[in-house]
Amino acid sequence: MFDFNYFTPTKVVFGKNTQVKVADLIKEFGGSKVLVHYGTGSVVKSGLLKQVTDVLECSNIEYVTLGGAVPNPHLSLVYEGIELCKKENVDFILAVGGGSAIDSAKAIGYGVANEGDVWDFYDYKRKASGCLPIGVILTIAATGSEMSDSSVITKEEGLVKRGYSSDYCRPRFAIMNPELTMTLPDYQTACGCTDIMMHTMERYFTNGGNMEITDSLAEGLLRTVKKNAVILKEQPDNYEARAEVMWAGSLAHNGLTGCGNDGGDWMTHKLEHELGGLYDVAHGAGLAAVWGSWARYVYKNCLDRFKKFAINVMDIKESGSDEEIALLGIKAMEDFYRSIDMPVNLRELGVEPTEDELKLMAHKCAVGVGGQMGSARLLNEEDMLAIYKASV
Ligand code: NZQ
Ligand code: ZN
Repeated sequence: MFDFNYFTPTKVVFGKNTQVKVADLIKEFGGSKVLVHYGTGSVVKSGLLKQVTDVLECSNIEYVTLGGAVPNPHLSLVYEGIELCKKENVDFILAVGGGSAIDSAKAIGYGVANEGDVWDFYDYKRKASGCLPIGVILTIAATGSEMSDSSVITKEEGLVKRGYSSDYCRPRFAIMNPELTMTLPDYQTACGCTDIMMHTMERYFTNGGNMEITDSLAEGLLRTVKKNAVILKEQPDNYEARAEVMWAGSLAHNGLTGCGNDGGDWMTHKLEHELGGLYDVAHGAGLAAVWGSWARYVYKNCLDRFKKFAINVMDIKESGSDEEIALLGIKAMEDFYRSIDMPVNLRELGVEPTEDELKLMAHKCAVGVGGQMGSARLLNEEDMLAIYKASV
């Protein structure tokens, strides 16, 4: 077991109609002039944006709005947001939407609180020393960005998708009303469930220190999301299932399932980020498309964990060698992905990279991780290329 710090400063306000509390929460955390930041229109269509701005007006909180955060959010909009915040003397950013709007808000927050080019942080050139306070009204259970220390931004020039993590950007509050996720397309619900499970699995498949309590939390979380993802496919308006998945999304990426280990593997995420950058695929679907190939490439180096996963999460009852059980677990996970209409290879994801594109992704991925990375198995550029090739 490794030593650890656990820091989750986000006040969670969970339940039906909780979005009406947004003005009180902004005041509680010292905001007086707010940037309301959102995505490409779902919150306009659903009426949520209007409801939020009405609440702000009733509470005499000044605000400006900026929409347009696309999935795999762009650096150019971040620059626009920084200028707007400076011009309008904004002191608080409210993200209304999913991971993309939240991550874009975090990047804007860094850009306002620090001198120089905000991309430097995502390019690993320097570290931020602050961030404007962020609040969130969440509309999709997926990334956990509502409690996480991460944000992921795509620089359009060169299609470079990179993440930056620091405690400064952890949201001050997160309003989570499961009903707000009922307007999601089925595909996005499934992508979200996949991402939630992957955030837990990235931390589970390690060779560096483990705790029984952490494993139990992780396995329980995985079983819960697996069960409720299937329920939501048939009953998208099932409040209990929406709520289970929504809370799981936050717990999967607020650090809880990583306590006591080396921080996790994270190579599936790094491999996906290149896909998201180059082909603009949905993050969860990209993860599902490469996970099986990654798992078969690394499982022998992390056999105990893959066997435990097969038995405790995928409910494998067959007897056999450790390797056979591990492989049955991987196959069962892929079967689960297929059952919720997630792809398990690049073709099913809808992309057909050329040999040169596979090499380019492997190269960018290796550069992005500083040469090599991974805890289940340490991977270099050659390994990354082999996994991409296996996932075609
Ligand atoms: O653009 P809008 O209008 O928001 O529509 C979105 C978008 O089209 C739509 N949507 C969201 N809530 C909805 C809805 N449509 C109808 N009803 C609702 N209630 O769904 C689509 C996906 O939204 P997005 O915010 O892009 O999804 P997600 O939350 O999965 O975020 C993905 C981004 O987060 C990054 C990903 O790489 C990707 O760029 N990640 C961020 C992390 C973090 N900050 O901790 C960790 C993750 O591993 C991930 O990398
Ligand atoms: Zn993710």
